[in-house]
Amino acid sequence: MSASSATLEIRGVTRRFGKNTAVSDITISIPRGQMVGIIGRSGAGKSTLLRMINRLIDPSQGSIFFDGAEVSRLQGSPLRRWQRDCAMIFQQFNLVPRLDVLTNVLLGRLNHRSTVSNLLGMFTRTECAEAVAALERLDIARTALQPAGTLSGGQQQRVAIARAMMQQPKVLLADEPIASLDPLNAKVVMDSLREINSREGITVVTNLHTLDTARAYCTRIIGMAAGRVVFDGGPDDLDRDAVRTVYGADASGAEISEAITSTSVTIKPKITASAGPLEPAFPGY
Ligand SMILES: Nc1ncnc2c1ncn2[C@@H]1O[C@H](COP(=O)(O)OP(=O)(O)OP(=O)(O)O)[C@@H](O)[C@H]1O
Ligand SMILES: [Mg+2]
Repeated sequence: MSASSATLEIRGVTRRFGKNTAVSDITISIPRGQMVGIIGRSGAGKSTLLRMINRLIDPSQGSIFFDGAEVSRLQGSPLRRWQRDCAMIFQQFNLVPRLDVLTNVLLGRLNHRSTVSNLLGMFTRTECAEAVAALERLDIARTALQPAGTLSGGQQQRVAIARAMMQQPKVLLADEPIASLDPLNAKVVMDSLREINSREGITVVTNLHTLDTARAYCTRIIGMAAGRVVFDGGPDDLDRDAVRTVYGADASGAEISEAITSTSVTIKPKITASAGPLEPAFPGY
């Protein structure tokens, strides 16, 4: 694989919702293996950008390429292949609560398989062994037979990561993966993402709402404001002026300090329209 392959390229991408422009003419290139944190105020367009990358929603303008192929134009089975290569985890985990943990993890393998074997609902011994191994790596194999809904938030997010890994992705997108977790669980989840990134060379792009987390874990930080990229650099480049640019000139010193140091448990209100049917729901379970 050449150094330039498996690059994720976002070229002039805009997304409008009615008159509201959520993402405005963004161009960024993310080489294979980077661990990228996206920061910005609520409504800056972070989730919209991630959703366009794995095609939960489509850009209004512009193109997205991966490894030279235009993923923003894919339809049918090539689109499903891209969504397999580009796994996504969410703030609210999106597990099927009454199914056991192991089955939830195996669901990550669904789109690798034929429709017939999916209909029969059968997983091979190898797939089950891989799912257990994924759970072991995240230190939650002992929960394999419990209904996923009975696990703590931190454990559920680790199950969601194990499910994503069963997709054997090339890119892992995470939309505020620790926003619902206490600091200890947040650390376990971020450590897992870092491990996946460094050990497997999987590109990780994660929206984060605290600067200290972005600084501690990401090699590259992209700051968004009002749908645009207003900062793109390493953690050391993110000085107080850059923070003000990202969070707005009107951000008070207290707000900036909060963004820098907050480790509090935060459950942010979700936008119903964007958190609804577009997220994988595994109908039928
Ligand atoms: N499905 C949708 N329908 C209409 N407007 C939407 C939809 N999804 C997002 N928006 C709007 O697009 C803008 C960007 O929203 P987005 O969810 O991407 O922001 P964000 O940076 O992820 O915010 P947060 O930090 O609160 O998660 C907001 O003004 C939002 O209201
Ligand atoms: Mg968001």
